[in-house]
Amino acid sequence: MPSIATKASGNNGEIKQQQKELVCVTGAGGFIGSWVVKELLLRGYRVRGTARDPADRKNAHLLALEGAEARLTLCRADVLDYDGLRAAFAGCHGVFHVASPVSNDPDLAPVAVEGTRNVINAAADAGVRRVVFTSSYGAVHMDPKRSPDAVLDESCWSDYEFCKQTGNLYCCAKMMAEITATEEAARRGLELAVVVPSMTMGPMLQQQLNFSSGHVARYLTGAKAAYPDAVAAYVDVRDVARAHVLAYERAAAANGQRFLCIGAVLHRASFLQLLKELFPQFPVTAKCQVDGEPMAKPYRFSNQRLKDLGLEFTPLRESLYETVMSLQQYGHLPQLPAPVAPKRAYL
Ligand SMILES: NC(=O)c1ccc[n+]([C@@H]2O[C@H](COP(=O)([O-])OP(=O)(O)OC[C@H]3O[C@@H](n4cnc5c(N)ncnc54)[C@H](OP(=O)(O)O)[C@@H]3O)[C@@H](O)[C@H]2O)c1
Repeated sequence: MPSIATKASGNNGEIKQQQKELVCVTGAGGFIGSWVVKELLLRGYRVRGTARDPADRKNAHLLALEGAEARLTLCRADVLDYDGLRAAFAGCHGVFHVASPVSNDPDLAPVAVEGTRNVINAAADAGVRRVVFTSSYGAVHMDPKRSPDAVLDESCWSDYEFCKQTGNLYCCAKMMAEITATEEAARRGLELAVVVPSMTMGPMLQQQLNFSSGHVARYLTGAKAAYPDAVAAYVDVRDVARAHVLAYERAAAANGQRFLCIGAVLHRASFLQLLKELFPQFPVTAKCQVDGEPMAKPYRFSNQRLKDLGLEFTPLRESLYETVMSLQQYGHLPQLPAPVAPKRAYL
């Protein structure tokens, strides 16, 4: 990996740091993209971030990141615009393809797939060596035929027809985008690693509310009167960012591999219980949408592949706490005072 000794300014004043190669992050201003940019800057990379409108105030946080002044540039690229992507990737050794609509809108699903085809081909044409693609556990876990005793791991795929029938078009799009990334990268001789994050929690760097942080906010505002009998997998956004960089750096182990990025799997009732314990001042619902049905059981999962790359997962309690703190910081939730603990009565 080429590197040049340089000086960069860190928290502790001027520190000597190895400046690494130039890499590009698509969707740099989003929730996960921002943390991938931050992690790359902290590790000494020169970073080019793409956004559809880099001058938009919603991307301003990127320029305030440590190391950004010296080593981050932003450029305009829509994933549907091959030429914009080709220009953004010029001179880059690696591309982190994070950008994607996070939506069930049927008009947006093709953007994820065609955008990924453009990214892989623009990367290959620009001479990029390695791409890390951000998939989703929506491409992995939505299979009603998977045995409740089976371990969810990198060999699993969602059932496309089931996702389509149940209106989970985001999952369909992510499955098709991942398959497109894998096939196109093989055809063009690019090294590819796929990171598969589950529902991503943790502090936001960006002000704009993203889908998974909004999921937590909706329970805390009381907008959700009842919760579904559902099990979901969660991970911290900082672990997701580290997973991207580890998959990029450990190319020998990573090439062609998927990396399932899950820190915990739990029933929505347990998830809300944890929220309630951390933030009792918010009106978190205790009502399930279904009564008297057998509760869905948390499934087993394996995150061993990422642990083998050296990733240590953040406890969900910590991620959730920091999710809520940043939702408050950016004004998506009110700053409600915590209830005062009742005085102990001494008899
Ligand atoms: N958050 C999760 O729980 C989660 C879980 C699994 C996987 N993921 C995956 O992680 C990635 C990032 O998600 P996120 O949660 O960080 O969402 P986010 O905050 O909404 O970010 C989405 C990013 O995609 C970009 N984008 C959307 N349409 C685009 C287009 N046509 N051209 C270029 N850029 C476009 C947006 O850029 P603009 O600024 O230009 O709008 C934005 O930066 C996605 O691939 C998503 O599928 C997320």
